[in-house]
Amino acid sequence: MKIKTATIMAGAAIGMPIYAAQAAELNLICSADVVICEKLVTEFEAGHSDINVNMVRLSSGEAYAKIRAEGRNPQTDLWWGGTGDPHLQAASDGLTAEYQSEMLSEMQDWAVAQAETSGYRTVGVYSGALGWGYNTEILEAKGIEGPTCWADLLDPALKGEIQIADPNSSGTAYTTLATLVQLMGEDEAFEYLKGLNANVAQYTKSGSAPVKAAARGETGLGIVFMHDAVSQSVEGFPIEVVAPCEGTGYEVGSMSIVEGAQNPDEAKVFYDWVLSADAQNLMPEAGSYQIPSNKSATVSDKVPDISQIKLIDYDFAEYGSADRRKELLAKWDAEIGGRASE
Ligand code: F6P
Repeated sequence: MKIKTATIMAGAAIGMPIYAAQAAELNLICSADVVICEKLVTEFEAGHSDINVNMVRLSSGEAYAKIRAEGRNPQTDLWWGGTGDPHLQAASDGLTAEYQSEMLSEMQDWAVAQAETSGYRTVGVYSGALGWGYNTEILEAKGIEGPTCWADLLDPALKGEIQIADPNSSGTAYTTLATLVQLMGEDEAFEYLKGLNANVAQYTKSGSAPVKAAARGETGLGIVFMHDAVSQSVEGFPIEVVAPCEGTGYEVGSMSIVEGAQNPDEAKVFYDWVLSADAQNLMPEAGSYQIPSNKSATVSDKVPDISQIKLIDYDFAEYGSADRRKELLAKWDAEIGGRASE
């Protein structure tokens, strides 16, 4: 940790200069919801007055791109949250640093597995399944039955009523792409996405934006992580949360220290703290209903019950590998993204 310059109050009395206390810095990218990002920073700074956190909220794919662009001159120290795939890609690119926290012994197996897959360059911080949320009032007014299966989303009655993010910027949307490929096979998944494109009104930058738009009545349905749909229904919006009947994928939201970070010690202090049960218990208070990775953290009763959801055996090693992620995104750009405004 940087030496904190002491405030020499006594010095003033004898005519010596007064040095202001100077906190060490931590440059953090946060890729979860901005409310939990801000809450974590506030609570961390309250307990660590010697570290000043500069936080920026970026979607998972954008965060990966920023860390990659910073390359050998990293401006970011720590990347917390966001889907695991781009964290794994950053690890395989050597953009993130190996760190085996003492807190690993307190983590769920799936969080440790994420660390092992990456050679300890990332770790799981939360998890959650993919699905969607729809606005019951909008669909009812249009006489559309609430869709419960991926296949239902191709119903022409939903034309212009669906939003999903762009998988280049959003980890949620990349998880959707990788999930459909694993569920249906690659060719079938791209056929499905072309069909879905006919109903999509907008590809957003952030993964949770579609269900926020559905909550506000701007669209009928948002394909998102189920916990992001729950957040809107807990706030009182008419949002029904769906786990797709055919099965679905999930994320292991992750955290990584940047290789060559300017403030590696401060990054480790935040890293260890944010893996604690106390820090993870802040999530529901901020309206974030993912499954926490610390075994002793309290799981809110609003967290979607994973045992009731048909989950695929998501292959994180393959879909987080640099080659596979690049290949799928290029294909999405060529076959789907280019048609987005058609
Ligand atoms: O809003 C929270 C959340 O869904 C996280 O669970 C997830 O890791 C992150 O957002 C993904 O955001 P994006 O799709 O914008 O990368």
